[in-house]
Amino acid sequence: MIEIEFRKVGKSFVDRQTAQARAAVTNVNLSIKSGEVVSIIGPSGCGKSTLLNMGAGLYLPTEGEVFVGGERVTKPVRKVAFMLQKDLLMPWRNIRANVTLGLEIDGIREAERRRIADELLAKCHLKGFEEHYPYQLSGGMRQRAALARTLAVDPQVLLLDEPFSALDAQTKMVLQQDLAKMLYEKKKTALFITHDLVEAIALSDRLLVMSERPGTIVEEIVVDLPFRDNPLERRKLPEIGPLQGRLMELLKVGKETAELH
Ligand SMILES: Nc1ncnc2c1ncn2[C@@H]1O[C@H](COP(=O)(O)OP(=O)(O)O)[C@@H](O)[C@H]1O
Ligand SMILES: [Mg+2]
Repeated sequence: MIEIEFRKVGKSFVDRQTAQARAAVTNVNLSIKSGEVVSIIGPSGCGKSTLLNMGAGLYLPTEGEVFVGGERVTKPVRKVAFMLQKDLLMPWRNIRANVTLGLEIDGIREAERRRIADELLAKCHLKGFEEHYPYQLSGGMRQRAALARTLAVDPQVLLLDEPFSALDAQTKMVLQQDLAKMLYEKKKTALFITHDLVEAIALSDRLLVMSERPGTIVEEIVVDLPFRDNPLERRKLPEIGPLQGRLMELLKVGKETAELH
């Protein structure tokens, strides 16, 4: 089953200076199957976040159509969860209460909310920190809590916008491992944005490469490698280097025209 579909999607924003509409993304076609993990890579400002916002129904396309779970997206979608670089934890709620927020909104009973949150926090290696406040946690731990919160509502689709880009290299690899395992076990569909090429290869079934603004998909690469549930192992495969080289070539890394952020 196709979980996320973009058909000839374009999005323009009105330029403040000229008051003219200017395309951020143009003619984007993509189709992601249920259970697939797909990464988008592309130069800064090419419209990656704009695409995710349209997937979540936070922005509406100016051209074309977006479908999630077979339904056309015209407003924010419940079955989609978003995770960003900023953890956006509420400082006045403890970690458990941050994780249960979506469940409270869904009207789930307190005992059940607590069970779900504590189980997820344990999976995210935060057992014992349920009653700590965000300020008491390191950046990596906060991002783990944000991951637990994202998963708590059991979304069908996860949209992840550079969720680990503020973390140090080691913390990042451990979080990738946890995320990959959970996505795999629960057969979640995910659209992942990153500027870390090896991260994209380590986590994904497929990679979509975008052009500069107005962004469109210029290349699709199937990552035909084992260990989608174990990125630490996948990272060690000899195929990683050549694949990374191909992506650098496509993104013109090192050529004066491209600057990756
Ligand atoms: N709400 C908005 N209003 C006006 N311009 C926007 C808005 N959101 C994004 N843009 C513009 O659209 C382009 C793509 O932005 P974005 O999707 O954030 O790129 P990326 O995530 O690939 O770095 C950028 O030039 C950005 O300035
Ligand atoms: Mg972005």
